[in-house]
Amino acid sequence: MKSLSSSVLALAPSMTVAIDTRAKELQAAGQDIVALGAGEPDFDTPDHIKEAAIASLREGKTKYTAPTGIPELKQAVSDKLLRENGVKIPASQVVITSGVKHAVANVLQTLINPGDEIVIPAPYWVTYPELVKLYGGKPVFIETSVESNYKFTPQALEAAITPRTKALILCNPSNPTGMVYGKEELEAFAKVLVKHDVYVISDEIYEHILYDGRKPLSIATLGADIAALTLIVNGVSKAYAMTGWRVGYFAGPANIAKAIGSLQSQATHHPANVSQYGAVAALNGGLDFVHEMGEEFDRRRRFVVESLRAIPGVKATMPEGAFYALPEVSCCYGKKTPKGKVIAGSMDLCEYLLAEELLAVVPGAAFGDDRCIRLSYATSMDNLRKAMDRLRHGMTALT
Ligand SMILES: Cc1ncc(COP(=O)(O)O)c(C=O)c1O
Repeated sequence: MKSLSSSVLALAPSMTVAIDTRAKELQAAGQDIVALGAGEPDFDTPDHIKEAAIASLREGKTKYTAPTGIPELKQAVSDKLLRENGVKIPASQVVITSGVKHAVANVLQTLINPGDEIVIPAPYWVTYPELVKLYGGKPVFIETSVESNYKFTPQALEAAITPRTKALILCNPSNPTGMVYGKEELEAFAKVLVKHDVYVISDEIYEHILYDGRKPLSIATLGADIAALTLIVNGVSKAYAMTGWRVGYFAGPANIAKAIGSLQSQATHHPANVSQYGAVAALNGGLDFVHEMGEEFDRRRRFVVESLRAIPGVKATMPEGAFYALPEVSCCYGKKTPKGKVIAGSMDLCEYLLAEELLAVVPGAAFGDDRCIRLSYATSMDNLRKAMDRLRHGMTALT
């Protein structure tokens, strides 16, 4: 048999997707699984978005569009950036992608020459380091911990930068930590990035899921120098409960937008026409929906963190944005399950919780920190109550 691409074979499949798939299989087989693995809102896409998509089909808008997306959507993104973020980027410098994951992939593929370094704060979203490696780059991690509230410092950023550094990936608010960097912290990062002429890939997908009165803030607004180095990736998946529609976007410097446009014209072309019309309605339709969703997530966040903190030995920071909790659970490593298996790390713990407690959560190892597990609270309070009972039961049964 001919050998396959070594860079593709080296890819670790997404563990969040794997856990979610396994949980769905067990559910389909009749098991009462509570799944906190997937990062998707449990709300339905608002009706006005569905109606706009249906209308586009009825109007026969079913053919190829430009590879960078329909003009209406690129303009809606440009308008949104100005209105909601105070960022001025013309529609000609926007590329519509098949989800934010695709925008991240396109940006990395466009930036990286073999051996280039991309700085990634850990814990990180599972996809970042795998894509960096796929495109021939080297991920360089900045470690953080529950003790530092999962935040990194400008000093740590500067120490991670070398002459090979192309970009920092900044996910703010963060999946999986839930942490949010404010103006002063972003200004300090911007100073370091400008000094070393390093791009920042600003993943703003959770920008509107913020708690305690926080407001979205893009690093691109902190001066012309950092704006010129900011590569915004964002989309409609989380803010409008549109994960399955697959619409994201890149917005940034003209030369990078042009290169991504060429890449898409050869590789994937554009996301489905119908999804793009839905996304226009989403972006032009106001933020009431995401704010209502955010209020519900806030209630759930408090319940989850209080429940986690009540489990002996578990440490949990209070998320400031997004919809994930990342408790530190290493207190149970080295202990045995009732069946006598030793829990060596987060993978063992998650396997045990799925098999014995019918609870699907994601091992911290997938995010670069084996001391924790990740729970998504984008699910109903009933599910969360069951989940917290099962977690407490499972963890206290370890000896
Ligand atoms: C930080 C982050 N970026 C990007 C994505 C991917 O978004 P999309 O579903 O639009 O591809 C996710 C999804 O979980 C995410 O958490």
